[in-house]
Amino acid sequence: MTSATFATVDADRPLRAVIAGAGFIGGQWAPELLAHPGVELAGWVDVAPGRARAAARALGLDDLPTGTSLTSLLDGEEPDFIVNCTVPQAHHEVTVTALRRGVSVLSEKPMAVTLDEARAMVRAADESRRLFAVSQNRRHLRGLVAYRRTVGELGPLGMMTSEFFIPYRGAAFLSTLEHPLLQDMAIHLFDAARAVSGADPVAVYCESFRPAWTWYPGACSATAIFEMTGGLRYTFTGSWSAPGPPTSWTGSWRAAGTRGTALWDGEGDPVAEPAKGEVVRAHKREDDPYPERRRRFGGLAEGLEEFVTGLRTGRAPQGECHDNIRSLAMVTAALESARTGMRTPVTV
Ligand SMILES: NC(=O)c1ccc[n+]([C@@H]2O[C@H](COP(=O)([O-])OP(=O)(O)OC[C@H]3O[C@@H](n4cnc5c(N)ncnc54)[C@H](O)[C@@H]3O)[C@@H](O)[C@H]2O)c1
Repeated sequence: MTSATFATVDADRPLRAVIAGAGFIGGQWAPELLAHPGVELAGWVDVAPGRARAAARALGLDDLPTGTSLTSLLDGEEPDFIVNCTVPQAHHEVTVTALRRGVSVLSEKPMAVTLDEARAMVRAADESRRLFAVSQNRRHLRGLVAYRRTVGELGPLGMMTSEFFIPYRGAAFLSTLEHPLLQDMAIHLFDAARAVSGADPVAVYCESFRPAWTWYPGACSATAIFEMTGGLRYTFTGSWSAPGPPTSWTGSWRAAGTRGTALWDGEGDPVAEPAKGEVVRAHKREDDPYPERRRRFGGLAEGLEEFVTGLRTGRAPQGECHDNIRSLAMVTAALESARTGMRTPVTV
């Protein structure tokens, strides 16, 4: 895969954005697009008749162009980018349709369901010379940024673990998946592991399974051991059916390097302890850059800002597709390992 080269938007006007998908997360993105001074919300589309119209009305946007056809809205409104908030099964089709019309894409995770789909999407971005990035909102959480800086003090890393234990019954679609933890949630932790460690995946051994007490028909729990570049071993253990105390939704973390160990509970400030004779500093969370958004969805505003800056300057945002496909590859290789029982190389 080559690195990103995409056309910038130089016109002296706000960037025009269309939202695809008017479900839960589409409703979280709309206020972000409305709040950004350099963006104009130009339309909203959803395949379910009336859904985009109802979502727009709920925000007082009675005149916003809406519809069920993405191509009609793209042709009619000529946006600079779409925010792809559709279900994962539609990500490939929606993203490639936009890119082929010269429209950049900021997509919700995961990039796609399969690695083959994702590769085709990256090719479509290259061929159209448009920016295609995936929003991984955890990367922008202030606690994760502080933990990443703290882990940066530890020197070469040897081991990193994250645990994710949530007793979750909220989303009906999870009950339709064969491996609901790996297929839906794990990418947040896998991508965070890449962000925090600066390392990329090499190979994985994973077991995905169903504890006796779970309420899910599928394998809602998993343990994966990743070999990462530099010899780091990253271990993930998690469950959607935690019978006891939950972790945070960003997990609970531990990293060990030559100079010491850093811990993070996934919410507050990280803590660090130096190895004998070493000095390491635990970084604190910085002040919230968007204090007025207290009730908005964490990390979206920062991701939008990076994407808009990217479209204006040519600087690739975090989550740019050539990079983000490596996080998806962690998921697809873990699934393959779980199905075959074999240690599996992680390739993009
Ligand atoms: N970053 C996060 O923490 C986070 C949280 C929730 C959801 N998500 C992601 O956001 C995406 C959407 O999740 P959701 O919870 O909003 O789902 P949802 O089911 O509430 O909404 C999805 C919407 O997309 C519409 N849709 C489906 N195919 C379409 C198409 N081809 N064109 C236009 N619209 C289409 C559906 O009709 C539905 O209204 C998923 O990829 C999910 O993983 C991310």
